[in-house]
Amino acid sequence: MNSFFRYNRSGELQFGPHNLAEVTSELRGPTFFYSSMILDHRLKVFATEVKKNLRFPPKIFFAMKANHNRQVLDHIRQQNIGVDVVSGGELRLALDLGFAPDQIIFSGVGKSIDDLQLAASRKIFQINIENFGELKRLCKIQNQLRTPSTFQTPLKIGLRLNLDIDAGSHPKITTGRKIDKFGLSPSDYLNCLDLLKNETSLVLGGLTIHLGSQILKFKSFKSAFALLKEKYVELFQLGFAPETLDVGGGLGIDYNGSNREDVLILKKWSAGLAGLNFFKGQVLIEPGRFLVARCGVLLAQVEYLKKNKEKEFLILNSGMNHLLRPALYDSFHEISQVSKKLNKKARKFEVVGPVCESSDTFGKGRLIVDPKEGDWVAIHDCGAYGSSMSSDYNLFSRADEVLV
Ligand code: LLP
Repeated sequence: MNSFFRYNRSGELQFGPHNLAEVTSELRGPTFFYSSMILDHRLKVFATEVKKNLRFPPKIFFAMKANHNRQVLDHIRQQNIGVDVVSGGELRLALDLGFAPDQIIFSGVGKSIDDLQLAASRKIFQINIENFGELKRLCKIQNQLRTPSTFQTPLKIGLRLNLDIDAGSHPKITTGRKIDKFGLSPSDYLNCLDLLKNETSLVLGGLTIHLGSQILKFKSFKSAFALLKEKYVELFQLGFAPETLDVGGGLGIDYNGSNREDVLILKKWSAGLAGLNFFKGQVLIEPGRFLVARCGVLLAQVEYLKKNKEKEFLILNSGMNHLLRPALYDSFHEISQVSKKLNKKARKFEVVGPVCESSDTFGKGRLIVDPKEGDWVAIHDCGAYGSSMSSDYNLFSRADEVLV
């Protein structure tokens, strides 16, 4: 079991400092429960580790797509971490919550005119460009917004490269291959440089990559950093003076293992950052999952027990409408009973949700002790891509969210 969880002597599940049996006695329905203490711990571990191998401390921008809960984001903002946003909605939320414009990066593959206008008018830290058409659009917007002051301080853009590198993650969340929709193709990149050479309202802040998500093998980063080095040398030769190098996010966690394994994963990945020390500017990192996944659980109740000749089902009052990851990526999330009789034997159950699809299954062959209707279970590691991917499908209510 993940090292943030343990059972006390009464068979009640502890999650970090929280007794989940006590927590659930106050809840009205399915709830994403976030621990600020675990969140703080993860932010600290990450920030400390990534500093070790780089010449200068990197700047961290949390990928808001992993979790857009206002309390979680507030907490992150207070630690002086910025945000990476991918839509006008996320950008507006960041500004609304008081993230300073220079703490915001705008990534995203399909930015609308309105979204770009907002980002340009608020002069955010960097807009990461994904295609030549987007750069032309931004130029036009900048020239419309132009005043003597914008003229003096051009907007910083990052060029997101598609380096045709396969990070070997799940195909649905791998983004760095040339068959993927992300990043600039080599010819679009050259077109962008041509445009930027003569454009005074925009300046090339730097290059950016994002190879994919839930990456656990880091050879791909090594190849990417070597290619970035080549590109940087070329840029200087062409007369550009890039100040940032944005390596995206993607660091995975061990959903089958514990926080201890995560730290080893982090150490290994961070060691590879030394491959960026050719660069004298500022390294930017956009982690999502690693920072928040472990700090959240989804708490749900058993609605029914159901049995057929083949197996027993545990039907919960929460399903793929709240946590889509198992249905979409076959991903594994450990499931624990919030209160468990320690002296009874466990049986195997298929743990499912109430949604009218067979893909609405959280886990098969899960060992559960003597369950009853109304019992609470905790689905682990739901702080990342849990509530942020939930939907109104079947019109069940959304899960509540609380950070303690
Ligand atoms: N930066 C960019 C440009 C991204 O597209 C992403 C994630 C990140 C940073 C953060 O990546 P992370 O550190 O969280 O791996 N829904 C999927 C994950 C999709 C990730 C999309 N992009 C899941 O539940 O596994």
